Amino acid sequence: MALQIQLAATDASAAVCDALIVGVCQGTVASHPTVVALDKALAGSLLEHAKLVEFEAKLDQVLELPALGRLKAKKLVLIGLGKPADLDAVRLRASLAACIRANSGASIRSLHLVLPDVEVDFRAVGEAIALGAYRFTKYFTGERKPKSELGKVLVHPARGKTSAADKKQLDLGVAIADAVAIARDAVNEPPNVLTPEGLAEVARRLARKHKLKIKVLDKKGILAAGMNLHYAVGQGSANEPRFIHVSYVPTKKHKKIVFVGKGITFDSGGLCIKPAAGMGEMKSDMGGAAAVLGMIAAVAAVRPEVEVHAIVAAAENMPDAAAYRPADIFTSLDGKTVEIINTDAEGRLVLADALTYATRLKPDIIIDAATLTGAALVALGKTCSAFYSTEDELARALERAARSAGEPFWRMPLIEELGEQLKSDVADLKHTGDRWGGSISAALFLREFVGKVPWVHCDVAGPVLADRAKGMYPKGGTGHAVLTFLNFVEQAGRPSK
Ligand code: BES
Ligand code: MN
Ligand code: ZN
Repeated sequence: MALQIQLAATDASAAVCDALIVGVCQGTVASHPTVVALDKALAGSLLEHAKLVEFEAKLDQVLELPALGRLKAKKLVLIGLGKPADLDAVRLRASLAACIRANSGASIRSLHLVLPDVEVDFRAVGEAIALGAYRFTKYFTGERKPKSELGKVLVHPARGKTSAADKKQLDLGVAIADAVAIARDAVNEPPNVLTPEGLAEVARRLARKHKLKIKVLDKKGILAAGMNLHYAVGQGSANEPRFIHVSYVPTKKHKKIVFVGKGITFDSGGLCIKPAAGMGEMKSDMGGAAAVLGMIAAVAAVRPEVEVHAIVAAAENMPDAAAYRPADIFTSLDGKTVEIINTDAEGRLVLADALTYATRLKPDIIIDAATLTGAALVALGKTCSAFYSTEDELARALERAARSAGEPFWRMPLIEELGEQLKSDVADLKHTGDRWGGSISAALFLREFVGKVPWVHCDVAGPVLADRAKGMYPKGGTGHAVLTFLNFVEQAGRPSK
């Protein structure tokens, strides 16, 4: 059942539900209208207890109480949101999502959420609820199959007034979170299900839903188009490669942006096979593609005045009699010859052809997202993406977009000297350099294929898959980069200068 989210102006203190959650800002515990009403219903014991346990509504402080029949709600949760002045959309989204996640398991089917007594961004509230309620449970059976799920959330503004505009923003937030869920699901799906064709199916489904144009090339089509690097990576797998192109073309548009995602549905390393430990994590090697597909679904929900394309180079990197090998040479779509060094550096190959294809759409900007290197993880840890840009202004725009999404991105330098490692004795380019600065030399390789188009490369290797839940991200597929990319597109659609 789809989650129903409504906005209500009714008194929440008397709500009949499994859980009543009240968002409270620091310094307003005793004045929040719902807290006051609940305290009255409980004969003063709520504020007394809050004092006893020193609940001051500091950020992420939680006060959880069973109602024990004294309220119509079965349990009451006060969630601290910190100082009102610090409560921006990022904080609100992260805190509420974490709280909803913690309170949407077990037998909780209905939930009422009362907002803090300050002005809030209703879109962020909608995002938080649906992001927090996300679960990936389709492969559980029997005892482990969830017996119930959260079906209904009623949102109450602190002071009881609701407007049609607020409801619209709330619904938009939910639609955006649904787009993020596309990316999360794609990463969470096992690689035997989410093959390159499986990824194409995800794209077709969202294109159908949002009435977007879509083109999919199969193995033969990829070869016929001249995408030999993409073809080479996919040639060792029984799950044949796909090239996917989804477009959003509004009548009024200020810019054209092409996003390109690495869609390796499983990266065994190919003939240069990876060690067994951790190989399973390589089901997330299509995290960049997932972000790009989630982004275009979100864009279709928001409908900004920007032309947006989502391109995915999907393949499975496997060892096989037909697999490509070190020392092979292939001619890329743009004509450069590439000497293969290590078959585990497959991402930059599929991206190279997809980037060339992207330049042919004559965009103002190209942005790619790829789980490209372990070196990016070594540099910035598992929760922050590394990004590179050929233009400072573009880098600043991406930083802004990431900041308002609440997603960690850190700019890295394109150190020209490392480019020397990409010189080959037998072809135009070698496709890998040495270990040191591996994320940078990968970026420099990609830059060879974007021509003069202003470009951003995001190495999202760490954050698309999380070891533990935190803020708006659950454990597993996080949907990282979808909100950042959406913000980036929306910024471009509001040309102020
Ligand atoms: N998909 C991996 C990168 C990766 C590693 C993503 C860890 C997420 C977590 C990529 O295809 C890869 O194998 N890169 C190699 C490149 C090397 C062979 C030049 C790497 O980073 O070791
Ligand atoms: Mn690899
Ligand atoms: Zn890979």
